Amino acid sequence: MEDSKKYKILFVCLGNICRSPTAHGMMEHLIDRKGWSDFIEIDSAGTYGGHQGELPDHRMRAHARRRGLELTHRSRPVRPSDFESFDLIIAMDDRNYSDLRDMAPDLESEQKIRRMVEYSIHPTYDYIPDPYYSGSDGFELVLDLLEDACEGLLNQLSATNVVPVR
Ligand code: 4NP
Repeated sequence: MEDSKKYKILFVCLGNICRSPTAHGMMEHLIDRKGWSDFIEIDSAGTYGGHQGELPDHRMRAHARRRGLELTHRSRPVRPSDFESFDLIIAMDDRNYSDLRDMAPDLESEQKIRRMVEYSIHPTYDYIPDPYYSGSDGFELVLDLLEDACEGLLNQLSATNVVPVR
């Protein structure tokens, strides 16, 4: 399928080195396993561009690797064109959500913005907490919350016919 026809999802956090590249890698892995890679494209970005070009934080990569997930995305800031190119833009916390809404050029773009916890199957948190200044527990929590919400997002994509029904 042409890239322009794919359903495109952008995960967004502050630095694009902890939460959103993890959601990105995890979702890409799940979509690949489902055989949906021809229909869905995933990317991630940060509202703050100070880590541009960097791999995910070494602690995030280490914790993800322990669950079999290799994170290789390079951080990039959210671009104005993202609001047109992506179909769904998913914020990790309320600050990311309101920053994205402030950046959105029009109502149609604003309506593409969602919070990651909206997809949680077992909702325990109102947002995906920033692990940057936390210990190991914070990184494990991010992985637990994202595993649950990615599964919920996968279910939603299937239910809304983003992928062909077999
Ligand atoms: P992220 O975590 O938004 O999940 O990538 C952070 C990364 C960097 C910073 C804060 C949070 N920072 O302050 O540089």
